[in-house]
Amino acid sequence: MYTDLAIFSGRAHSALASAIAARIGQPLGRVDVFEFTNENIFVQFQENIRQRDVFLVQPFVSPVNTSIMELLIMIDAARRASAGRITAVIPYYAYGRSDKKDQPRVPISARLVANLLETAGADRILTMNLHAGQIQGFFNVPVDELNALYPVSAYFQTQRLENYIVVATDVGGEKRARDLAVRLDVPLAIIDKRRVGNNEVAEAMHVIGDVDGKNCLIVDDEILTAGTIVSAVKALRAEGAQELIVTCYHPVFGGPAWDRLASLNAREIVVTDSVPMAPEKVPSNMTILPVAPQFGDAIARIHSGQSVGALFQ
Ligand code: R5P
Repeated sequence: MYTDLAIFSGRAHSALASAIAARIGQPLGRVDVFEFTNENIFVQFQENIRQRDVFLVQPFVSPVNTSIMELLIMIDAARRASAGRITAVIPYYAYGRSDKKDQPRVPISARLVANLLETAGADRILTMNLHAGQIQGFFNVPVDELNALYPVSAYFQTQRLENYIVVATDVGGEKRARDLAVRLDVPLAIIDKRRVGNNEVAEAMHVIGDVDGKNCLIVDDEILTAGTIVSAVKALRAEGAQELIVTCYHPVFGGPAWDRLASLNAREIVVTDSVPMAPEKVPSNMTILPVAPQFGDAIARIHSGQSVGALFQ
């Protein structure tokens, strides 16, 4: 059993953790997290957490492996401090793309990370838009997966989207794009994409659907190098597409992503704040939607034993 709610942040995205805590209406708990000279991470909770319902906020963002290890160590510290229940709050779950053995002699890293979280002592997971919903099944503890579809579609419902069609960047993203298209009451097109080797090169092969003369709202779960988006835009323009809006739930943005996104001449790029972003890098055509309300409300419901699914109805 557990008593009151306690929420703590790792070092990965303290702005998001503070916003989540504010939504719940209580301050972030006090915890020291730092690295020794030998890169070993040290964690010490600076308040009593015995029997408390502990939520640890840490998206797996750059430096990704440090973020993961830090959360594992925080969970271990909380377990050894006799926390009543520990929920790992992971707004962005890295390694999600490694979710199956699709080549010889490769790992399933998304499963390995799930095992590590459980072994460290996590009792529950709260996350948002896993790369594939089936990753939930890599855990033997309850997983609540929030969906950025709700804030993103709510935002677009307030915008003038005339003559628009929603476009999925690959066949795997069809359901995600369809859900958005249904909520915006617009048609759907899908890009037939293939990846070339393991070197982050994506190639759009065909456009399934009629985009000629249409404006396109391209949706993806995450953007890393923006190679997928660039090749999608090329294919769409070749088929006669006009104005463009790009949206993604997790703006991971690495390597050439910023330059590539700038070169698209998109009307708007709409992302969430599941991943931190340096303010000076944010271009004028980018809109960042907050996910703290969803996470805060979900945490309040988990704590009081109410339905999290009811948030989406
Ligand atoms: C792939 O299956 C994902 O849905 C994204 O399309 C991918 O992660 C985007 O990566 P990048 O921006 O590097 O092309």
